[in-house]
Amino acid sequence: MGGFHAHPVYMFNKKTVRDIDAQGKRVLVRVDFNVPLAEGQVSDDTRIRAAIPTIEHLRAQRATVILCSHLGRPKGEVRPEFSLHPVSQSLAALLNTSIGFAEDCIGPIAEAASSAAQPGEILLLENTRFHPGEQDNDPEMARQLATLADIFVNDAFGTAHRAHASTEGVAHLLPAVAGLLMEKEIRYLGEAVAAPEHPFIAILGGAKISGKINVIHNLLDKADKVLVGGGMANTFIKAQGHYVGESLVEDNSLETARQLLEKDAARLSLPTDIVIADDFTAEAKSQIIPVGDVPEGWRIMDIGPQTVAAYTEELQGAGTVVWNGPMGVFEFPAFAEGTNQLAQAIAESGAITIVGGGESVAAIRQAGLAEQITHISTGGGAALEMLEGKTLPGLAALLDK
Ligand code: 3PG
Repeated sequence: MGGFHAHPVYMFNKKTVRDIDAQGKRVLVRVDFNVPLAEGQVSDDTRIRAAIPTIEHLRAQRATVILCSHLGRPKGEVRPEFSLHPVSQSLAALLNTSIGFAEDCIGPIAEAASSAAQPGEILLLENTRFHPGEQDNDPEMARQLATLADIFVNDAFGTAHRAHASTEGVAHLLPAVAGLLMEKEIRYLGEAVAAPEHPFIAILGGAKISGKINVIHNLLDKADKVLVGGGMANTFIKAQGHYVGESLVEDNSLETARQLLEKDAARLSLPTDIVIADDFTAEAKSQIIPVGDVPEGWRIMDIGPQTVAAYTEELQGAGTVVWNGPMGVFEFPAFAEGTNQLAQAIAESGAITIVGGGESVAAIRQAGLAEQITHISTGGGAALEMLEGKTLPGLAALLDK
């Protein structure tokens, strides 16, 4: 049946900045500038770079670009260590232009700054989470944000799973469209789940199983194989009946792990060998052993070489690969092997590869493999909710095509 897809191809059905005329308009753009800071400077500008296409698109139309974002979790209080000021410096350097900065995102300071900003100029507003109304999705805060502009653009994919005043609330008060990053992220992650190239292999790691149970459920329905590593594998290993010593285990997820194993043991791959340590430190003594042989007092820290080889074999010939979460205690070099080798195997798989989550993305970057990945997501929690098949409130509130 040439020309027909076996699955419906994922449709992005929201209006984007390409569908509106922003000429001379004031545009409030919600971005996700929740970036890591070190000594008062941006230490990873990936999310800032990712917002540039939308900013440039609007600037080229001579719109006045009013950017807003949260940074960290200041819990509704003004806390200078969570100021977006360092971000404005980083953005100014990246765009090689001056960026206006308003010390507040709503109220008289924000209003004065946004009315003074001229077409083609960029203004960054201070952290939206300095107000409790942000996370409460307070209608009054949304109303105040809406007074600053004529159009709302949501380009904050990383925060699209939050129904907050600057992501969801304000979208109901202005003509609201998606930015180019939002569109790209939703296309890749949506398509991966709705219409993947098979074999579709999902690799899940990271410390906790509890936050990822729905992801595992959904991916077990969609993927041909789900390969599990990292701390979350420990709960499965214990659920298989093995002794796991001092390993991190979520005992309240054991029953769920048992059910998942019963439901789909054939599709769910677990480590067969592991790297263990006698302490949770970078310098701990280590051993490679088969699963089930953990001596008393020891703990699981990484997947072993036999598991890496088996997972690598699953990746050969894959059509789509989605990866979220490291395979071990990746921050300690002695226990980063599993994660690094799998990163390499993913990059070399020849599949459509999608990587999300801070630590997996860091592993890909540290290994210099970013160029070989089809799509590196700027979302952690938001990417996981897409993989769960959930509707993201920040996206849902935008205008349909
Ligand atoms: C993220 O970093 O995942 C997003 O910016 C959302 O941040 P949050 O988990 O504090 O809402």
